[in-house]
Amino acid sequence: MIKITVVAPANIAFIKYWGKRSEKFRIPLNDSISMNLSGAATTTTVEFSSAFEKDDITFSGETISEKEIERITTHLDRVRRIAHKKIYARVVTKNSFPKGTGIASSASGFAALTVAATQAIDLRLSEKAVTILARIGSGSACRSIPDGFSWWHAGKKSSDSYAESFVPSTWWDIRDILCVVSTEAKKISSTEGMENIRTSPYWQERILGIPEKIGRVQQAIKERNINTLGSIIEEDAISMHCVMMTQKPPLFYWNDTTLRVMEGVYALRAKGFPAYFTIDAGPNVHIICRSEEEQIIVEEMKRINGVQSIIVNEPCLGAHSISSHLF
Ligand code: PMV
Repeated sequence: MIKITVVAPANIAFIKYWGKRSEKFRIPLNDSISMNLSGAATTTTVEFSSAFEKDDITFSGETISEKEIERITTHLDRVRRIAHKKIYARVVTKNSFPKGTGIASSASGFAALTVAATQAIDLRLSEKAVTILARIGSGSACRSIPDGFSWWHAGKKSSDSYAESFVPSTWWDIRDILCVVSTEAKKISSTEGMENIRTSPYWQERILGIPEKIGRVQQAIKERNINTLGSIIEEDAISMHCVMMTQKPPLFYWNDTTLRVMEGVYALRAKGFPAYFTIDAGPNVHIICRSEEEQIIVEEMKRINGVQSIIVNEPCLGAHSISSHLF
């Protein structure tokens, strides 16, 4: 059978997904909105063959745990079931950034795996169907498949919980300046952490406010209005972290450098530069700004004690195949 290699970007959520209606099918409690990140990608090569006696999964340059291998083989089983084929696969994966640090490696990883595996086993699925399948592997992975800016419709059942692009990557040349403040794997994964959402006294409040924010964020992106977009995404990130911090047990993902970067963003705004932060399930901070301000913001952030590295991202294409393979 043919060998397929797919590159998929990580994505940054502007309106966050935190909490599920169904754990088994990863159906979220709320819609979410994201942008694909050009500087943080996973490349995955998949080949199925009747000559293989089991799945062979490797990460180039990184170790992989038994738990991760199991999650990947379970996902390959879903692909095999849909294709009605009982053949094993060889899978080789490479990340352009460290795993498990809140840079959404599971999003790019499961997006690349799903697109590569479905094509390698010769399944002809629509983009919508592929996003549904990727979502079952890792929720936010569905948003890394469409082009540019994605809208994940929460839906009520598996078949209507999918992602689509609402504007392409070429729509708006903004930046996500990712300040890496830690490369340690996080202790509590987002999957585990969000299982406890209902123990926070604020979760329903947050979910109730989301439909209105989804509309406002889309409008801000369509109008290319950085100040409106920035203020909504900052508010949503803080709201999600409030829920996390008030869960039982409390979930604190920030560290001291996270707070220093947030203060640095406020200081930039006080000087008149439109810069806004957002933070996923980890300590690293994403700063959203226009391309005009990229240089000045990067320079300011380099000066902050504890910032280990900076990755500058632009909106980019979703998961797509390439012709050079990893094996
Ligand atoms: O899909 P997961 O399990 O990687 O969860 C993603 C959760 C957040 O990154 C915190 C928010 C989001 O919408 O990406």
